[in-house]
Amino acid sequence: MNKLEINDVRLKDHFTQLSSIGALPSGGYHRPAFSEADIQAREWLENKIVSAGLDYQMDGAGNQFGALGREDGLEPSILLGSHLDTVTHGGSYDGALGVLAALEVLETVRDAGVQLQYRLGLVNFSDEEGTHAGLLGSRAFCGLLNVEDLQQPNSGSEVFEKGIRRIGITLNSILAVSSKSFLPTVYLELHIEQGPILEKKSIRIGVVTSVVGIRTRKILFKGTAAHSGTTPMNLRRDAGYGACSFAKAARELVLAKFPKAVVNIGNLSIEPGSFNIVPGQAEVLLEFRSQSIREADEMEMMLRALAENIAASEKLRLNILESANIQPVGLSQKAQSAVATAADDLHLSSLMMLSGAGHDAQSMSRICSSGMVFIPSVGGISHSPKEFSKWEDCINGANVLLHSAMKSASP
Ligand code: GLV
Ligand code: MN
Ligand code: MN
Repeated sequence: MNKLEINDVRLKDHFTQLSSIGALPSGGYHRPAFSEADIQAREWLENKIVSAGLDYQMDGAGNQFGALGREDGLEPSILLGSHLDTVTHGGSYDGALGVLAALEVLETVRDAGVQLQYRLGLVNFSDEEGTHAGLLGSRAFCGLLNVEDLQQPNSGSEVFEKGIRRIGITLNSILAVSSKSFLPTVYLELHIEQGPILEKKSIRIGVVTSVVGIRTRKILFKGTAAHSGTTPMNLRRDAGYGACSFAKAARELVLAKFPKAVVNIGNLSIEPGSFNIVPGQAEVLLEFRSQSIREADEMEMMLRALAENIAASEKLRLNILESANIQPVGLSQKAQSAVATAADDLHLSSLMMLSGAGHDAQSMSRICSSGMVFIPSVGGISHSPKEFSKWEDCINGANVLLHSAMKSASP
């Protein structure tokens, strides 16, 4: 069984087929969750699962599953996967590689006629990227999603509700999902690193030890829209100035006090938005990430105080809305050792590393033993049309996933 190898020609063919869905003429991929392109990708996956002779299911959150092997509820049951949705103008590897490699592992095992003493499944989790709510599908599956998480979707309620209607699910069906549809004991996810470490160190495989926590906040500064030519500078309540001051100060604060953490101002929108009107309102999309809950709490306190001080000194009103609170998690030791041993057996160098990106494995680690396999990202670039990984690394990653899954099945 140790000699099993994935079929790299079939995997490449699947990768090429999927990469045509949501591809933009200007380069890059646009497959936000529940968009027309995402639906095409979902249909493509369903067809592949069915034509491969695997059991197909979709749950109430739109998570898609394919499965093979015994179905008597006896342990272990091993789930492999990731997500097919992309960020806006993203790349073709983030998420998709993990789902396609999972499909390839199942097909390889089926082709080899291995008599599985366990259930082996693949999953495409809905909306990992947070077009509507980050890790939506995996959080629903793991019982980590509450009604409040769906009340103010990032895309706005109208877009979200239209999207879920398109795939035939509802708010209630999302909230009613549970892992009972598969009951995994192990979850493994292959993913591109999305950062520069493996490439820089010339290491082939990353064994992920923990995944970063992510908090997102919408910060609204409210001032007074006024004539830009006649309102004296000292009488302005300029919400745009407040937001820009916050953006600069937040970065300086995190660099100075939290050197291991990161902060991002992903958008800044100003209203009314005209040359000749002092901004009356400005909304900042703030995200900060840390590997520790304590550090994230401290950052939160200091970032809030910063926003309050700026609002007070510019005579602005301030409203801070919480959107995501995704906790950092450590991945299972058992899964880490399955991945590291699989890499060793395949003579691939490996490195234990943290993930600065969020992943579905993060949700899954709350209900079962979860692990991740990383492969190098060229130039460390991701969430960009320039995202690229060498095909040889994709094949290595898929083979490590295959062997990690097999190892995880043994007690
Ligand atoms: C997902 O890719 C994230 O880290 O935002
Ligand atoms: Mn991803
Ligand atoms: Mn991503």
